[in-house]
Amino acid sequence: MPHGLQSHSALYVSLVSAIAAVAGLLFGFDTGIISGALLFIPNTFPVSTAMQEAIVGSVLFGAMFGSLSSGKLTDLVGRKRTMLITASFFIVGTAIATFAASVTSILIGRSIIGVAIGIGSYTAPLYIAEVAPVNMRGKLVTLNQLAITIGIFCSYLINYTFIQMEGSWRLMFAIGMIPAVLLAVAMFLLPESPRWLVKKNKIEKAIRILQRLRQSNNVLPEIHDIKNTLRLKEASLKQIFSAPIRSVLFLGMMLGLIQQVTGINTIIYYAPIIFQLAGFESTTSAIAATIGIGFVNVIATLFAVFYIDRLGRRPLLFSGLVGMALSLAGLSLAFQLQLDVTKWLAVLCTFLYIISFAISLGAILWLVVSEIFPLQVRASAMGLAVFSCWFWNFVVSSTFLSLLTILGPSLTFMMYAALCVLSIVYCYFFMPETQNISLEKIEENIHKKLPLREIGQPSYSVANVGK
Ligand code: BGC
Repeated sequence: MPHGLQSHSALYVSLVSAIAAVAGLLFGFDTGIISGALLFIPNTFPVSTAMQEAIVGSVLFGAMFGSLSSGKLTDLVGRKRTMLITASFFIVGTAIATFAASVTSILIGRSIIGVAIGIGSYTAPLYIAEVAPVNMRGKLVTLNQLAITIGIFCSYLINYTFIQMEGSWRLMFAIGMIPAVLLAVAMFLLPESPRWLVKKNKIEKAIRILQRLRQSNNVLPEIHDIKNTLRLKEASLKQIFSAPIRSVLFLGMMLGLIQQVTGINTIIYYAPIIFQLAGFESTTSAIAATIGIGFVNVIATLFAVFYIDRLGRRPLLFSGLVGMALSLAGLSLAFQLQLDVTKWLAVLCTFLYIISFAISLGAILWLVVSEIFPLQVRASAMGLAVFSCWFWNFVVSSTFLSLLTILGPSLTFMMYAALCVLSIVYCYFFMPETQNISLEKIEENIHKKLPLREIGQPSYSVANVGK
């Protein structure tokens, strides 16, 4: 393809992916805004610790349902309409939470937002992966994680602004309406996924859209490839749970678990509370330190976007996990020693922790679950891996405040550090390197029953097997 057309195509597909990633922005915004809103809600309604945990948990509970139903929904109505449904759920949920007359209404509104987040967290990476050309897939899928971090950062900025102005939690929630409406409107302008169109036998439309995405008339080979993959029948649930798919499914679900039980959202959702415990007296300075967290999260994720394809998944994952373990241990020590500098040590350790997470588990989970599953089982298997992520997110964030009370901050963070160490051991044995290998080759390796760690090895090609 001439260079000009190639860069046009790259630009167009990047724009399409960026618009889909607004779902990620909402995911980040709606999960991050709660840390600030929680400081104000008790001024309107009396809420116990358990109720605060329920308010945080309602979004996650909804997201579990959302992610489980996404596979069916995206296949039934298409990726584009699913994204529109996601946007509508965001709008309705936000309206209910904003005008809530009781804590119950907040819980209902936040649960609906959660369903939207769950569906969006599945559909946006799937849609991006399906419209992206092979050579840009890693970068474009990671764009969604970048959008999540930008959403979190925006929510922190809003939290800070509102604290300064003595604003209300209602307005904080209401601001989420802006990207939700933007997503709804912008999705009308986007093309449907060509893969879904081929599946529904709308070949002509698929060709037209693919020509626009690739800025080329020569798209028949790609349409042909899609048709070929669709010849494989969707696997039944029984097949998903039998070898060799079972072990890949387990890996995806384990990665979802590891991303969460290593404690990311104790920081993302509760940072102001942690900073206050570490010695920041005013809410304002605790929230200001939290903005710093949001900022480094974005910058470190940008690094991941640019380097994930070049450095490989495993090196990033291990450096990140080691950094997370050390910074959590440091945080635990800071709370244990209770020095004058404890609050600054806490800030330093959380910054290091966030950087380590962003370059590793943050970007890698969403990318790897969109890479490792064979096409036949992708809808259900990816749904289960995403569900696992939300389930463990729910478990960790709905128990964190209680753990702080029961164990104290030092022991609590030491426990997350220990979970990082266990994760390193698991990933060392089971995490494949999927850099520079086509999805078809990964699929072929899985069917050849290679050990999980080897499924990303290009050298295990069909040609080598006969030798
Ligand atoms: C995780 C979220 C987390 C966010 C932080 C995402 O990949 O799934 O739980 O809040 O990263 O950047």
